[in-house]
Amino acid sequence: MASTDARETAAAPTGVHGPTRPRIAARTLRQDRWWLTPAATFIVFSGFVLFATYRAFAGDNFYAEPYLSPFYSPCLTDSCQQAGAADFGTPFGWWSLSPALIILIFPLGFRMTCYYYRKAYYRAFWLSPPACAVAEPHQKYTGESRFPLILQNVHRYFWYAAVVVALILTYDAVLAFGPAPGESDGIHMGLGTLLMVANVVLIWLYTLSCHSCRHITGGRLRHFSKHPVRYRMWTFVSKLNARHATYAWYSLFSVAIVDFYIYLLATGTIDDPRFF
Ligand code: FES
Repeated sequence: MASTDARETAAAPTGVHGPTRPRIAARTLRQDRWWLTPAATFIVFSGFVLFATYRAFAGDNFYAEPYLSPFYSPCLTDSCQQAGAADFGTPFGWWSLSPALIILIFPLGFRMTCYYYRKAYYRAFWLSPPACAVAEPHQKYTGESRFPLILQNVHRYFWYAAVVVALILTYDAVLAFGPAPGESDGIHMGLGTLLMVANVVLIWLYTLSCHSCRHITGGRLRHFSKHPVRYRMWTFVSKLNARHATYAWYSLFSVAIVDFYIYLLATGTIDDPRFF
């Protein structure tokens, strides 16, 4: 009898269809254009995923001296060395596929498990729910308490990897001031330099405004008064955190724009305007 009850409970609808929720026949009572945000998210994310997948698998046109695409950094294979982009050696020299496939798991894993992106793609792709006060189509809801979504908890570990990636992209941005093509020394600044610096600033804003970063700086403390440095860091991160969604979008665009700009340079489609 007890097991029958348990089976019935397990089969019972959950979420907005649960027995404790009011019975409302309409899917939503909202009169505004609530579908606009999930629809825009769906279109932009899909576009980015298609573009990033193509570029990650392409395995070429990722370096235009002195600019290295963020999709390919750090570049660790023999093909990186042939392109002149192996700043950290070739520990994966034997790798014959695109060098991007070795390292993209870290920035990709960080973004895919991000609290903001989770909200965005749960709404836009799974309609779970598509917006506040709009019923989801699914009958059952287990949230992130079961496999596979429980794996989203690895986000805090991806944060550490994301910091390393941000440091490497910072190094790339410094190298972007290096000698222009055809010159052996000196510094220069082109439009590519500007784009790479803007990109790494946005990457840092996105990384430091992360909810996990906020917890790492100020979590598990009983008394802020006894940890003034961590309190200051937490205050700073909390201010950034309020704009995390904005940084998530901007840094997504900037990564794609920098990669595409370097692709255009590498294929000879455009020249890099030079400021000095
Ligand atoms: Fe978005 Fe951590 S919550 S990156």
